[in-house]
Order: sequence, then C-alpha cells, then structure tokens
Amino acid sequence: MAATTTRVGLVGYGLIGQAVRDMITSNDNGMEVVFIHDADTSRLDDLGDLALTDLADFDSRGADLVVEMAHPDVTRKWGTTILEKTNYMFISVTALADREVETGIEEATAKYGTRAFVPHGGVVGMDALLENRDIWESVDVVMKKPPKNVDCAAAGVDPDSITEETCLYDGPTRGICPMFPRNVNTHAAIAYAGIGFDRTHSLLLVDPAWSDATVAIHAKAPGVELHVERVEAITGVTGASTPASIYNTVQMIGSTGPGIHLR
Ligand SMILES: NC(=O)c1ccc[n+]([C@@H]2O[C@H](COP(=O)([O-])OP(=O)(O)OC[C@H]3O[C@@H](n4cnc5c(N)ncnc54)[C@H](O)[C@@H]3O)[C@@H](O)[C@H]2O)c1
Repeated sequence: MAATTTRVGLVGYGLIGQAVRDMITSNDNGMEVVFIHDADTSRLDDLGDLALTDLADFDSRGADLVVEMAHPDVTRKWGTTILEKTNYMFISVTALADREVETGIEEATAKYGTRAFVPHGGVVGMDALLENRDIWESVDVVMKKPPKNVDCAAAGVDPDSITEETCLYDGPTRGICPMFPRNVNTHAAIAYAGIGFDRTHSLLLVDPAWSDATVAIHAKAPGVELHVERVEAITGVTGASTPASIYNTVQMIGSTGPGIHLR
C-alpha cells in the first residue's frame, strides 16, 4: 500500500505547539509539519522555511490539517477562512461558546466539504460523555487551580489579591468561557460533547495553597453515573497531560504511519 504524508500546519508555538511539533517530528507517523505561525514572531526565529509570519498565506503551504494551539481569537478570526481550504482542529475550545462561531464553522464545513475537529484535550472521559449525550440529565464540571495559573484578565480579577479558597464562577458553562477564555477549554469540550453550553454546570475554584490542577466531571442519568477526576501539575494555563493528549488527537486524524492504532 502506498504511503501518503499528511501535511500539518501549526498555529501557536508556545508550550503545547512546541511539544506537538517535536512529537510529530520524532515519531514514525506519516505526518509532516509544513508551517508554524505565531503572533509573537520572535518564536519563529530559528524555524527557517517553516516559519509563516502572515497567517493569511496559510494556503500557499498546502496543509491537509491546520492545528490551532494559540488562543480562541484565532478560531474567531480565521476558522472559517481556513475551513474554506482545508481541515481545521482547534484546541482553544472556548471559542465554541460563541454561537456565531459555532454556526460559522458548521456552515463552512458544509459549504466547502472540509472537517473541523475538537480534541478531548484535558477532558478524561469525553468518549463516555459523547456516546451517552442523549441520556444525561446533568453534567457538572468542578475545576480547582492555583490563582497564578488562571488568566483572570477578561474577568477583571487580580489573581495576586486572592489569599484563600475563592469561587470565581458558578453557573452555566456558556458564561464561564468568555470570562476565562484561556483556562476553561476542558469545560467547553465537556459541554460540547455532552449536553451543551447552557445545560452544563461549571464551577471554578482557586486557592493559592494548591499547587496542582484538578478537573472533576459528574454526569448523571437514570441508571448511570459517571464520575471522573484528574489531579495534575500545571504550567502556565496548561496541565501536564495536555501536550501528549493534543498530539494523540492530531495523529488520530492525520497519521498514516504503521502500527496498531487505538480508536
Ligand atoms: N483543549 C484543552 O484541553 C487545552 C488545554 C490547555 C490549553 N489549551 C489552550 O491551548 C492554547 C495554547 O496553550 P499553551 O499552554 O501552549 O499556551 P502558551 O501561552 O504557552 O502558547 C500560546 C502561543 O500562542 C501564541 N498566540 C497567542 N495568540 C495568538 C494569535 N491570536 N495568533 C497567533 N498566535 C497567538 C502566543 O504568542 C504563544 O506563543 C491556549 O489557548 C490554551 O487556552 C487548551
């Protein structure tokens, strides 16, 4: 069987973007990185021909898949433009809480025959939420983080002023996404996979005494309960397990390499 190579373009070359690029490059997966874009052009300095300084030129690289690992604004600004030409995976899932963005993506994929992908990222058990989405009566997400790892700018909160356990949000997932757009992608993915942004309930707790990040999911339906919790180290806004999780989803979509593949 002839081997093909999946051409992948990366948007965002920070903690996750750099790790994902390394994993694509160092594994026998039938994928090739064809461009890297970052708004901070100093991050592109050593990348030679791979550097794409203006995202408007993305189509010149012939990518089969563009992967956003930057900020939800990228999907807001570029999502439908990218989908006019090729497939698009976005990890800053909070973008989907904006109904206009969600509709725009759905319409672009239908019009241009391309595909959009949302990775499970920091969500443990997204398969179970999705497969039973018709039965859940409630889905609750509880996130606990040190305040220094929460970007509170959009919420107008000073994380340094928090001295004890504090609840930053308690309500529907739709409302938490614009307040903490870089921190609650797991909430957004849980809502999208399960019962939606308006019916999913989100809680965000911070305490400077904590050093790890915790995400717990509690889903209930008649005769079924799902309880999942992961506690992990966190750097910046990203949990320790996320880079490998994102690479795994990229390779699920784009890998043409040999081996036994879990689905
Ligand atoms: N889906 C998930 O489970 C999950 C988990 C963790 C983080 N994330 C999201 O992934 C993204 C990347 O996380 P990270 O830890 O690598 O962050 P990071 O801050 O280390 O890197 C982000 C990079 O994107 C660049 N960037 C920011 N805005 C941009 C824009 N508009 N256009 C182009 N480049 C831009 C920055 O310059 C930076 O280099 C964030 O949006 C974060 O919220 C998602």
